[in-house]
Amino acid sequence: MLEIERDITPYSAHTLLAPSYRIDTRDFTEKEYNKFVKLNTVRDWSSLKWKDVGRPYQVTSYAKDKKNWETENRRELPARTSWEMFNKSFHEWFVKDVPQEMDITKERFFNSLKQFKPAETKAAAGGFIRIHLWNYVHRIQDGIWDPRGKRALFEGLELKAPKILFLGAAEGYEAMQLASLYPGSEIVLVDYDPFCKDTRYGEFPDSYPFLGEDPLTGGKKIYYKTDIPTEYVVSDIRKLPFGHEFDIVLSVGLLEHFPDEMKAEVVEWHRKFLKAGGYIIMTTPRAQLRSKLYYEIMADVMNHTYRELMTIEQMGLYLYENGLDILRHGYIKVHNGIVARAR
Ligand SMILES: C[S@@+](CC[C@H](N)C(=O)[O-])C[C@H]1O[C@@H](n2cnc3c(N)ncnc32)[C@H](O)[C@@H]1O
Repeated sequence: MLEIERDITPYSAHTLLAPSYRIDTRDFTEKEYNKFVKLNTVRDWSSLKWKDVGRPYQVTSYAKDKKNWETENRRELPARTSWEMFNKSFHEWFVKDVPQEMDITKERFFNSLKQFKPAETKAAAGGFIRIHLWNYVHRIQDGIWDPRGKRALFEGLELKAPKILFLGAAEGYEAMQLASLYPGSEIVLVDYDPFCKDTRYGEFPDSYPFLGEDPLTGGKKIYYKTDIPTEYVVSDIRKLPFGHEFDIVLSVGLLEHFPDEMKAEVVEWHRKFLKAGGYIIMTTPRAQLRSKLYYEIMADVMNHTYRELMTIEQMGLYLYENGLDILRHGYIKVHNGIVARAR
């Protein structure tokens, strides 16, 4: 990622567009909060039924790399290899110099037009659309990291110096955001793809500011990756040696990658590491029209694995039916989020 200089002045609320991402240490205004955050719309989970909420939307446009692998090997791409492909591909986009790449794709598009080469024009148009979509979703709207939305989902829990376990952690963003909100946190990131520890987390910018709480004053404080005590475990979630020892077990974009017959097992992965009274926090991408279009246009970048897009009602029902009490639920820009406890 093209890093920016670390801001050494005391905390001030601001936003800044770096070439690869946005930093944002502002809080939402009331108007923005009402536009981007909708919490606790379901009153009674026990009365919600599948026939009322429908089934998740399944994304069926797959990445070329997955299709090519399956043609060559004449079998379905194994889950673990599909994650390795996904992580490399997704990371390539996080490190792009987006303004420069927008210029390059524009030039490529006009050159192909001048040369009357329809196949090249089509490819160049695809590249142009994808980088502009990425610029909007990740850099302008900040929908993927969405620090203000994530803070709205994560804040105000009863926690003191929590131990946080992040299952399928990739670059570990949300655990770092949680740790900043709850001073004294220790985080354990788990992913079975070593590329996530070495590159996605390893190269996550040291200068990215996470807005959190100052334990001395109760006011605001900026934390950086290197301020947060972190252990990164490269392991299959199913082989972790931990007991019931975490105050928070977190996953981001995990549940929707498993079909219904595996949902109970995925919920259990969270419950089995939780202290009594601890919190399970999960997010999944929303099933809104713009997300469906995003996964269609970005298929080659994103769709190496089974993927569903669900509504908050569908997500909540999976958790409720599998023995969790839902304490907080809702959606932010592009994610659903739930804070729950084992019933
Ligand atoms: C969709 S990603 C999480 C989304 C993430 N925020 C991102 O930006 O990519 C899911 C992650 O879970 C990991 N994963 C999936 N199944 C796993 C398992 N059984 N054990 C450990 N890690 C797993 C994958 O390697 C991948 O990095």
